[in-house]
Amino acid sequence: MTSIGEARSEAPLYVQIAATVTQQVANGALRSGDRVPSLRRLSRQHGVSMSTALQAYLWLESRGYLEARPQSGFYVRTPFSRLIPEPQFVPRHARPTALGTDAILSDIITSAEDPANIPFGAGSGSPELFPNRRLSLISRRILRRDPEHNGHYVFPPGAETLRRQIARRSAEIGCHWSPAEITITCGALEAINLAIRAVARPGTVVAVESPTYFGILGTAASLGMKVVEIPTHPQQGMDLAAFDRAIRRHHIKVCITMTNCQNPLGYVLADGYKQALMQLAERHNLVVIEDEVYADLAFQGPRPRALKSFDRKGLVLLCSSVSKTLSPGLRIGWVVAGPFHAQVERLKLLTTVATAGLPQAVVAEFLESGGYERHLKRLRTKLAGQMDAVRQAIAKYFPAETRVSRPAGGYMLWVQLPDSMNALELYRAALSRHISILPGTVFSATGRFKNCIRINCGHTWSDAHDRALLTLGRLCESLV
Ligand SMILES: Cc1ncc(COP(=O)(O)O)c(C=O)c1O
Repeated sequence: MTSIGEARSEAPLYVQIAATVTQQVANGALRSGDRVPSLRRLSRQHGVSMSTALQAYLWLESRGYLEARPQSGFYVRTPFSRLIPEPQFVPRHARPTALGTDAILSDIITSAEDPANIPFGAGSGSPELFPNRRLSLISRRILRRDPEHNGHYVFPPGAETLRRQIARRSAEIGCHWSPAEITITCGALEAINLAIRAVARPGTVVAVESPTYFGILGTAASLGMKVVEIPTHPQQGMDLAAFDRAIRRHHIKVCITMTNCQNPLGYVLADGYKQALMQLAERHNLVVIEDEVYADLAFQGPRPRALKSFDRKGLVLLCSSVSKTLSPGLRIGWVVAGPFHAQVERLKLLTTVATAGLPQAVVAEFLESGGYERHLKRLRTKLAGQMDAVRQAIAKYFPAETRVSRPAGGYMLWVQLPDSMNALELYRAALSRHISILPGTVFSATGRFKNCIRINCGHTWSDAHDRALLTLGRLCESLV
């Protein structure tokens, strides 16, 4: 960081103003996580224009003193030294692996469901994050209007009203779908399951990020796929050169990827990366299953474009849902499968016949009645704040060598503990103290990430969470 002495009186005015903030940080008047005065107040305090005040804050942000939070203002950043560098990127020789289903997963789900536990484990948000009242009102309205609403199937591809709403929103992500291209599913995981079955056979070699969401690994395993884990940088995504080599060596036919708010790493990849990935897919005629469940939850800037928006050859099947943004319980997801649409629709019919009609109608009316963008804005701000609180607690309580991801969106933090730590032991010890976390090993088919854990920040921050992280930190110190 820049020393305070850098801002001498001959320094530009905005640097001199910035120095008053760094002095307050140095003397403890401002602590990490505190909100600094608004731009208007700062400009008034120093008798300067708003643009000079903004320059001062941007200067402080570029040097790591402050961070901007959307719709909220500037905050003093957690001291860097404890938190970066990011989790290590360890390129490994990839090889196809036939997976077994992980017995620990059912344990994890049970422990995450137990209300006695602090829920840093499973990937769901606090119910109060969602617009439950409005959803219930809409549901009651629909049933009042049509008491026989539940008296029939809504066969694939699903309710037209909902598909129209999803098609309308697709312009936001760089796609321009017609409702006819969309198949409604029971959540994103069913969408992924149908997409894999439409494009692959048992024994097909499927590439995944490493680490990746355990639901993808489990689904691929249950369908008899072989998985190759592609080395994945915590901020820059899959190593495309290693991926290219792996495709040639292992005859990879399918890839499952998250380019926006990856679970568990939280990165959002640039458009340039997405174009390069699509060029690679085109070169090898590789089918790509894109998981977009967290993509509406990027904290900064406009909604990132979907990988599918760069797809010129119909190679991408996009899977998503409202489970992370509106309601996990309604179980509404969708898949846009391009040339595989008819196959997906047929598989959907054979698998679950239909998705429940009432939740489809509820989500359609919610999206139609407006307010989704406003809700998303609030949700993102809340999640960013909760994530920041967890990062700060980790900085305070965990061993000094701990590294923590800096997610660009979503719910998850990826924490790399000192090399000697066994995250599975930490998981067990934490559970005995009613704290649920996920050990890193469930995010790999090859037992990697033994010293990593994933922490879900989707729950409203409270003193109990702070105490739980203090306990986790102490457990780490005792297990190192
Ligand atoms: C990356 C990712 N994909 C898919 C899913 C499943 O989503 P759904 O609940 O809509 O089936 C999850 C749920 O945690 C997830 O984290």
